[in-house]
Amino acid sequence: MEDTQTMTLTGPDRVLAAAPAQPTQALADLAPPAGLSPAQPSAELSAPADERAAWWREAVIYQVYIRSFADGNGDGIGDLLGIRTRLPYLRALGVDAVWITPFYPSPMADGGYDVGDYCAVDPLFGTLGDFDALVAEAHAAGLRVIVDVVPNHTSDRHQWFTEALAAEPGDAARGRYIFRPGKGEHGELPPNDWESVFGGPAWTRIVERDGTAGEWYLHLFDPAQPDLNWHNPWVREQFEQVLEFWLDRGVDGFRVDVAHGMIKQHGLPDVGYSGQITMLGNAVLPYFDQDEVHQIHRSWRRILDTYPGERIAVAEAWAPSLERLAAYVRPDELHQAFNFHYLGTPWEAQPLRTVIDQSLGTARLVGAPSTWVLSNHDVQRHVTRYGGGETGQRRARAAALLMLALPGSAYVYQGEELGLEEVFDLPAELLQDPQRFRSADGSSGRDGCRVPLPWNGAVPPFNFTPLGIADGWLPAPAHWAARTVEAQWQDPDSMLGLYREALRLRREHPALGDGALEWSPSPAGTLVFTREPGFVCTVNTGSEPVALPAPGTPVLASGPFELGADAAGQASVVLPPDTAVWWVRSASD
Ligand code: NOJ
Ligand code: CA
Repeated sequence: MEDTQTMTLTGPDRVLAAAPAQPTQALADLAPPAGLSPAQPSAELSAPADERAAWWREAVIYQVYIRSFADGNGDGIGDLLGIRTRLPYLRALGVDAVWITPFYPSPMADGGYDVGDYCAVDPLFGTLGDFDALVAEAHAAGLRVIVDVVPNHTSDRHQWFTEALAAEPGDAARGRYIFRPGKGEHGELPPNDWESVFGGPAWTRIVERDGTAGEWYLHLFDPAQPDLNWHNPWVREQFEQVLEFWLDRGVDGFRVDVAHGMIKQHGLPDVGYSGQITMLGNAVLPYFDQDEVHQIHRSWRRILDTYPGERIAVAEAWAPSLERLAAYVRPDELHQAFNFHYLGTPWEAQPLRTVIDQSLGTARLVGAPSTWVLSNHDVQRHVTRYGGGETGQRRARAAALLMLALPGSAYVYQGEELGLEEVFDLPAELLQDPQRFRSADGSSGRDGCRVPLPWNGAVPPFNFTPLGIADGWLPAPAHWAARTVEAQWQDPDSMLGLYREALRLRREHPALGDGALEWSPSPAGTLVFTREPGFVCTVNTGSEPVALPAPGTPVLASGPFELGADAAGQASVVLPPDTAVWWVRSASD
């Protein structure tokens, strides 16, 4: 290639053909360091929530893992007040909605996914008043709010389960859960061979009131999370009331935990082998993805549709295939489903293209938008999965541009916009994840992706807690000083700078968000696709630089690249390994 010119597109001189750069707002305006004064909706932020129909078809939804996002009261644990203080940050980042993980009263056997009361707030996280204020302030800031609902199981301390334990076998209170007599001469063996996702048997035997060893109850997760019996209409009615409780308080939707698990195959047949399932796995099993579960989702959709403003539900469904996943987002069911098939795809062009095509194709069959996700609170952070270190950062930057250019809606897990990696050296005495405790070798815990966010300052906990008066519940590594929001906010070359700019362009460019894509032929290891009108994304996932025709004017790049001309004088680009570039094309290109 001749006449090459090295471009960065992330420094101050970056080409912004699509729109002029936004004036940078000082970090101090965005994240009050004391963390004590909730964000007041300013005139600038007071626009009503987006009125467009079907906002969710292209929304970028930011996942707040509440315990680790921001601590408002100084006890080292993130809370609702903390989220309120950071709403200006989320607004300035440029996302459309927040999904907040469970904040309900809970013994915290599984980080809040063991719910003790579905219609209240755990004092650890604040009050219902705090929640109402959060919703009001988020809406005033143009952000929608999605909350978790956890219908597959309750906490073992939930009143329903306490009543079930106190009841006799066969009583109505037992019928809310899945109790069975054991096998073996004295009922000493579990009723079947089902395994807990966290490891070990999915059954625990209880002691009856008279002191004898009694029935067993099913728990697909921790023993502290007994599974509800969704064949029981009483359970269905309870959850309809739960949905209405939060919808009446103004939530914009629900993330449905284990949406594929509520119905178990009649007769509870044995699986026949061990090693049945891991977190987010896709095996075909009698306790997951049963056809009858869709009845429940249809009834929930009817409730959502009685509320104004496109209230949505997103399924956390571990389906064996993208076709089975699409069933959860049929027009009369839920609106979205997390695309864990995409999350689990390696950083390689061909498998990525295949999963993208299958995702778009299957979702299109039912008229639903595809969703894209790279990380969440259940998996190793993707910087680490992609190789860690500089390689992981480089790939994560390119992966962000790929994901945010795809048609549909995208989920961003808190901290991925800072380039946070998995933390492996947490002190053993602080670890809390039940998956770690129950897994065979204790190595598969999820604490390492849940370390509190670094906001500002030079030393841990980086103002995660107000005034730095407490440690976060898990310690942040000292080297995160370079990864705080403050350290990256003004730096367009940082991961945060890249996400901000990508989100800004995504909001402004008419081709991005909902719609379709068209692939262009490209060399092995690369992806090139067009979104009309006039937007092109090029990605090199390989380990060697690749020369391509330049498809327009570059507007954003995940790393440096070279522009030049080929022998025939046509504009060309050399994409280094693990690099993505966004281009806009005018009629003359
Ligand atoms: C999925 C949640 O994301 C995970 O954190 C939890 O442990 C299980 N469901 C059980 O509720
Ligand atoms: Ca707190």
